[in-house]
Amino acid sequence: MARAETDIDVRLSQEGIFAPDDDRMMLYEGRLTRFFEREYARYQDSTRSPRDFGVPSDEGPIMEETEALMDQHYDEQAEFFSGFLDTCYRAYSMAYYGDTPEAIRASKATLEQAQEAKFALIAERAGIQGDEKIFNIGCGFGSLETYLLKHYPELEIVSITPSKVQVDHIRTRMQDASDPLCTERLTLIEGGFEQLDVNALGGRRYDLVISVGFFEEVVNIRAALEKIASLLLPGGKIFNHFITSQTAIPQFLDPDKTRIGLYFPGGRVWPHTELTRYTDHFEVCNTWFVNGLNYWRTLDEWHHRYWDSLPSLYETTFDHEQIAHWNNYFSLCKAMFAPMDGCFYGNSHYLFRLKD
Ligand SMILES: C[S@@+](CC[C@H](N)C(=O)[O-])C[C@H]1O[C@@H](n2cnc3c(N)ncnc32)[C@H](O)[C@@H]1O
Repeated sequence: MARAETDIDVRLSQEGIFAPDDDRMMLYEGRLTRFFEREYARYQDSTRSPRDFGVPSDEGPIMEETEALMDQHYDEQAEFFSGFLDTCYRAYSMAYYGDTPEAIRASKATLEQAQEAKFALIAERAGIQGDEKIFNIGCGFGSLETYLLKHYPELEIVSITPSKVQVDHIRTRMQDASDPLCTERLTLIEGGFEQLDVNALGGRRYDLVISVGFFEEVVNIRAALEKIASLLLPGGKIFNHFITSQTAIPQFLDPDKTRIGLYFPGGRVWPHTELTRYTDHFEVCNTWFVNGLNYWRTLDEWHHRYWDSLPSLYETTFDHEQIAHWNNYFSLCKAMFAPMDGCFYGNSHYLFRLKD
């Protein structure tokens, strides 16, 4: 059933800001999607690597724009994120609706159920047994922590994020006895992974290092993997989940060349095979490509929830410019994941094992 137009819809449309289901917004998104579809088609048979396009993944610092990224994205006001994220996990990464475009389109799962399915898939693919010591890089609002601590009563987890908004959220929950995050099995570190002093962890090492949505910001993959290796116990594993394209798209390797850099300073989209180049410390156990329509559906749900949350954001928290900025963000991201039935641009999963 079509949603009834609200007073806010009318006022915002007079400013050229349209609701997700408004015909003008759909037209805009359709055009953007066709633009990306043409770009993907140009590169889909290419064998050129990021280095061939002048973007080596083994030079420079591990990451370079963490402060700007927090400023322009992750430290946006907490009300903004609580307005659109799922209510169970507050996951700020792709939810999982299915394996194929048909299954994803047919899925009846809510966002909450699809986020839970994503964490279940990660736990299965990472081979989690339940008694591991885990280090989680880029923990967001504690989404993976909420899932793991609820499901595995013996598991311990150390989590890091440089976002003050996320840290404040997690610290508040750590004080609430009814919350799964209120446990000594969780340790929170505030800061950037690139600045983490591994020796200051009291000599602790981990069975598994996980990251969900972190490698999009990594500049030097070789150096990041070397640092991760130094955190692991003998035989330890890493599991990474991040946005990838099937082949390298040059403008997506440079955050200053597309509008996505406005939202993710320093962000880049690595091709699926890039991480597997670096086997100095690891053997590759398995890799998976996760269809991008999963992220399209997640973003579409976020977009609608964002719009529905505007009555509490409008004029108290966000002005027109901010409303338009984030409204365009959801559309832009949706248009990037929609082309080619999600088969070219999506997420990758990687399971690596530390070499003996
Ligand atoms: C896309 S969000 C994913 C959050 C969470 N993993 C989830 O799935 O809900 C990316 C996360 O990486 C974190 N991040 C960004 N730069 C980082 C850095 N330099 N070191 C550690 N974490 C970082 C962000 O603060 C955020 O928590």
